[in-house]
Amino acid sequence: MVMMFEKWVSTILFLQFCWAGCGFCGKVLVWPCDMSHWLNQKIILEELLQRGHEVTVLTSSQNLLVDYENSSGLNFEVIFVSQDRESAEKNLEEFLYLAVNIMPSLSLWQSAKLFQNFFLQATEYFEELCLKAVYNQSLMEKLQETKYDVMFIDPVIPCGELVAELLGIPFVHTIRLSIGNTVEKYCGHLPVPPSYVPAAMGGLIDRMTFLERVKNMMFIFFFDFVLQQYDFKFWNQFYSEALGRPTTLCETMGKAEIWLIRTYWDFEFPRPYLPNFEFVGGLHCKPAKPLPKEMEDFVQSSGEDGVVAFSLGSMVKNLTEEKANLIASALAQIPQKVLWRYQGKKPATLGANTRIFDWLPQNDLLGHPKTKAFITHGGTNGIYEAIYHGIPMVGIPMFADQPDNIAHMRAKGAAVEVNFNTMTSADLLSALRTVINDPSYKENAMRLSRIHHDQPVKPLDRAVFWIEFVMRHKGAKHLRPASHDLTWFQYHSLDVIGFLLACVTTVIFMVTKCCLFSCKKIGKTGKKKKRE
Ligand SMILES: *[C@@H]1O[C@H](CO)[C@@H](O)[C@H](O)[C@H]1NC(C)=O
Ligand SMILES: *[C@@H]1O[C@H](CO)[C@@H](O)[C@H](O)[C@H]1NC(C)=O
Ligand SMILES: *[C@@H]1O[C@H](CO)[C@@H](O)[C@H](O)[C@H]1NC(C)=O
Repeated sequence: MVMMFEKWVSTILFLQFCWAGCGFCGKVLVWPCDMSHWLNQKIILEELLQRGHEVTVLTSSQNLLVDYENSSGLNFEVIFVSQDRESAEKNLEEFLYLAVNIMPSLSLWQSAKLFQNFFLQATEYFEELCLKAVYNQSLMEKLQETKYDVMFIDPVIPCGELVAELLGIPFVHTIRLSIGNTVEKYCGHLPVPPSYVPAAMGGLIDRMTFLERVKNMMFIFFFDFVLQQYDFKFWNQFYSEALGRPTTLCETMGKAEIWLIRTYWDFEFPRPYLPNFEFVGGLHCKPAKPLPKEMEDFVQSSGEDGVVAFSLGSMVKNLTEEKANLIASALAQIPQKVLWRYQGKKPATLGANTRIFDWLPQNDLLGHPKTKAFITHGGTNGIYEAIYHGIPMVGIPMFADQPDNIAHMRAKGAAVEVNFNTMTSADLLSALRTVINDPSYKENAMRLSRIHHDQPVKPLDRAVFWIEFVMRHKGAKHLRPASHDLTWFQYHSLDVIGFLLACVTTVIFMVTKCCLFSCKKIGKTGKKKKRE
């Protein structure tokens, strides 16, 4: 029944896109962000290409995964910055070293400060990139002449919105979350009630005790006023100068027609959102393909016990010897076979059941019927592959949105969390045994999977639909809340509250004054009467 329905929907969609696609082939300009963000964005770009659109990526020469030398159908406009790829790689390694080895042992405050310093240091590089984009007359003229219909922007690196404003084209954002949700909240005007929406990166869930709500409020203050993703002061000035009128980074970002959020209700806690926010998490997920022969043989050799997939993501390449040994000795104690994606030195305690791979076809492995559990750092892409295939998880989060992602999965009963910094072999082993042997984890993972699959339109089709919608209608102004035209005190109705309070105060004042006056009068006449 469900399959029939799906078929029917996809036939209609196909006809619709064929009709709309052939009649309307637009031009898309892309402002990407590197690493896993790009891998996700690229899925949408490939779909746009397939539907006949022309896609041009405006990229920095320093990006590592944005493969501008090998076009694969995409056009590239490369901005050459002074830093080369090697030093970008070095910076990334430095950051990962901090994130993996230093940050977990610091207090929340200290690690946040370190994180912020790293972001602010990057401002210098982002500034160069932006200068070389918007102040390069011939580049801007070339882009202007091409007459793009839409710009598709990952706002982690500022400047995309500025280019769109200068070219006068509508734009669509793609984002998982910003630190503390401040960008969605202040620039996109997404409502974030602190009583049941946990601050992003605080690791809290939607059902909070009183003390947790206190903590959540403190996180919100902290993210709003202390730890910020961008150097707002710098960018406000930069944007104002480039546009020749006073503006702010946030105001410019707020002009996004549509915000494509890389999660969905299988992952998110229910919360209020706006009509121009579309939740498209898991758009990269696909049914599993067969594994390479050697890997398939290894998986089959596990028999009834099945296998465990283990990856800490594309960024973490090696661990300290001590950590690697600790992990390997825990893995050696389970009856399952383990496929571990790891590029560091082979740990001495590696068990016979564990095999190390440079790379894993993660989606295909998670979709394999023998896979029982997934050990993950908690990146959004990996979590979505596990949700798609209904695989319970052991989360070892390290930085950025990872602790938050694992908190979501834990709250939904599909994951057990292990602290990367303090874990022992026994902790990891017990977490693994729990998710494999306690059937509730598998059931919950399957429930999330069913929610994910049972959508009227698939996330990738929805993402592409909204980009095409913006192209066809030159924006999506009918979805834009009027709050964008209000000042912050009007938005919170502070002016109205102030006015009403003033009215009430005046009335109370008048009434008391009158009372006092007449009381005095009565008192006086009373006294007079007495004297008489
Ligand atoms: C370009 O990409 C294709 C497919 O992804 C790959 O087979 C080919 O080796 C790549 N070429 C270069 C020069 O990297
Ligand atoms: C400006 O852009 C053009 C066209 O993309 C490029 O050829 C040129 O090298 C750029 N100039 C500078 C100074 O980056
Ligand atoms: C990672 O590996 C390199 C060389 O293999 C080594 O020099 C470095 O210390 C390792 N990093 C960690 C955190 O162990």
